[in-house]
Amino acid sequence: MVNLQQYGLKDNKKIDFIFNSSLCCAVISCFYELGIFELIQNKQRFSLQEISKKHKIDENILHFLFFILESFEIIKRDKNEKYYTKGKLFGEIFQKKSFFYWLVSGYYKMLSELPQIITTNKKPYKNWKNIAIASEEYGANFVWKDLKKAIKKAIEWTISNQKPQGNGRKIQIVDLGCGTGHYLIKINKDNDITSSLNEKKAELFSTGINISASTIEIAKKITKKEGLHSKIDFIVADIQNLFHDTNQKNYLNADIIMSIFTIHEFLQNEGIIFEKIRKIFPKAEIFILCDNYKITTTPNPTYPIYSLALEFTHAIQKTHIPTLKEWYKIFTANGWKPIKILDTKIENAKIFILKKI
Ligand SMILES: C[S@@+](CC[C@H](N)C(=O)[O-])C[C@H]1O[C@@H](n2cnc3c(N)ncnc32)[C@H](O)[C@@H]1O
Repeated sequence: MVNLQQYGLKDNKKIDFIFNSSLCCAVISCFYELGIFELIQNKQRFSLQEISKKHKIDENILHFLFFILESFEIIKRDKNEKYYTKGKLFGEIFQKKSFFYWLVSGYYKMLSELPQIITTNKKPYKNWKNIAIASEEYGANFVWKDLKKAIKKAIEWTISNQKPQGNGRKIQIVDLGCGTGHYLIKINKDNDITSSLNEKKAELFSTGINISASTIEIAKKITKKEGLHSKIDFIVADIQNLFHDTNQKNYLNADIIMSIFTIHEFLQNEGIIFEKIRKIFPKAEIFILCDNYKITTTPNPTYPIYSLALEFTHAIQKTHIPTLKEWYKIFTANGWKPIKILDTKIENAKIFILKKI
C-alpha cells in the first residue's frame, strides 16, 4: 500500500501536488525545446525580461511559467524580486530535462487519446522525431560513456578476427533505429576509437537505419556538417521489413550491429526479431544492444524517472518491456549469447554485448 505521507506530503495536499506536477512537466519540456535551460545554466542570475526578449515570449506568460518552476524549486527569485537564480533542483533537472521532453512531446497525443486507444483499435501515435531528439540528449548524458567501451571492444575484437583485405581492414557497423545518428557520429569522432582503428590500419563504415524520414533528415544534416558523410550512410527503412529491402546491399555485410533503446518495440512473437537480425546480417558476430528492462513490481509514485512512463506508454502500445530474466531468455532462444553486460547511468537500462551462437 502506497502512503504519500512518507514522501513528506500532508493528506490534504497530495492531490494538489499530483495535479501541479503535470504542469511542471509541461514547462520543463517547453524550456528544454526552447533552449531556455541552457541560457539559465550559463548565468549566475537572470531576469525575466532578458529571457522574454531573447525568446520573444510575452512577459506575463513567462512570469507564470517561472512561477511554476519556482513552486518546484527549479528556479528561485532573489530578495528584491528583480532577478532569478538557479533553485535547489536546477542541476538535476538540467541533466534530466530530455526525459520530460520525451514524455510530453513524444507521447502527448497518446496520453490525450488514451480513452479511445484503450477501448477501440485506435493506433497509438508517438512523435518519433521528438523522441529521437530527447534520446540523443539522455543518451549523451547517461549512456555514451559506457557504450563507447563496448563499441571499442567490439571493433577491436572484429579487427583481430578479420583477415586483412589489401592494405588494411574494413569494418562495417549498422545502427538499427539510429534516431538522429548521434551515436554513429560520436563513434566516428571519438579519439580512442579512431586511434585504435588507425593503429590496426582499419577503416570504419557506418550505416544508420530508421523508420522516420524527418529524423534521418536531421541525422544527414548533422553528419554533413561534421564532414562525416563519406563515412556514415543513413537509410529510411523499417527494421522489421529489412528482408524485403534488397536494393541496399552494402550494410547487409555488417560486422557489428548496434541498437539503442529501439528493439523493445519489436518483441512480439517471443523476440523473433533477434533471429531475423541473425539472418539479415550473416557476417555480424557481435550485437551491441542497449535497452530498458522492467523494474516496476509494486505501485510506487517515486519510481525512477522514465521507468514507469516507459512501461506505461509501451503497455498501451501492447508491447511489453521485458524483465532482465526475460531478456536473457529472448537472446538465447533466438541465437545470441550475452557475453558481457554493462550498466548505464539510467536505472532501468543495460548494455548487452551479444555474440552469435
Ligand atoms: C527511442 S528512439 C532511439 C533513437 C537512438 N537509437 C537513440 O538512442 O538516440 C527509437 C528510434 O527507433 C526508430 N524506430 C521505431 N520503429 C522503427 C522501425 N520499425 N524501423 C526502424 N526504426 C524504427 C524511431 O524512429 C526512433 O528514432
